[in-house]
Amino acid sequence: MKRLSGTEISKAIKEELKKEVSNLKTRGIHPKLAVILVGDDPASAIYVNSKKRTCEELGIGSLEKKMPAVTTQAELLSVVKALNRDPAVNGILCQVPLPGQCNEQEVIQTIDPEKDVDCFHPYNLGLLTAGIPKYMPCTPFGILQILKRSDCEISGKQVVVLGRSNIVGRPLSILMSLKAWNATVTVCHSRTRNLPEICATADILVVAMGRAKFVTAEFVKKGAVVIDVGTNRIADPAHPKGSRLVGDVDYEGIQGVAAAATPVPGGVGPMTIAMLMYNTINAARFQAGLDRFEL
Ligand code: GUN
Repeated sequence: MKRLSGTEISKAIKEELKKEVSNLKTRGIHPKLAVILVGDDPASAIYVNSKKRTCEELGIGSLEKKMPAVTTQAELLSVVKALNRDPAVNGILCQVPLPGQCNEQEVIQTIDPEKDVDCFHPYNLGLLTAGIPKYMPCTPFGILQILKRSDCEISGKQVVVLGRSNIVGRPLSILMSLKAWNATVTVCHSRTRNLPEICATADILVVAMGRAKFVTAEFVKKGAVVIDVGTNRIADPAHPKGSRLVGDVDYEGIQGVAAAATPVPGGVGPMTIAMLMYNTINAARFQAGLDRFEL
């Protein structure tokens, strides 16, 4: 089974993006991303730090708005609106999940769609659904880049997507069914019957359901390509930290069955951040009246 390394593919993409940032800077365009982090969820803090570090690596400006766990919805919306008005900020991202008193959808819908580099706003999801995406949702586009750069043909293939979230499963299934990709897509979820049988029809199986090692060999057709979007922290007394990250797929268990699979960690995760950088660069380009930078 071939290991599809998101770490390596994202490195190559980040080199391309770094060159584009330099190119933009010679033209007086300085891409900048604002990241809002509310509360002290440790996983979110790690993601946000990693996004900031990647901005630095590529020469993209970053601005972190750290807000306490007791932040009200009104306070959060006023920060979003101030960033909408700031012409130096090209992209705005509010890390989710938010504390219970905040309304995630209202925050997403308050972000200016022109600066919505997560592609979470219904306007941008609508453009994508209409087949004319402006921003690409980061995790789905990261998966498409892994497949493209591993010479995995999508056109005409049976794709099964396990999971229907607004962040991964739904936008990915819509994108792959567009004329640009031409897949035949089945979306499965928690109420799907005969899950193993349906998954076993897939040439490409994408798993984004958030259940540790749920997908075993019986879900996988011989020769299939398996993309694991899961990031589940499980207790492991043998590990120095007392826990470790595992995917939704039993990577060892599918070894003799799948032709290729993404590991966890080191698969889809690093791609998501690279695609966020890509969107931030395009945000700066669009706002300067330029067209899309293609990957
Ligand atoms: N939480 C988990 N993934 C993401 C993401 O891609 N963007 C944001 N804003 N929050 C997240």
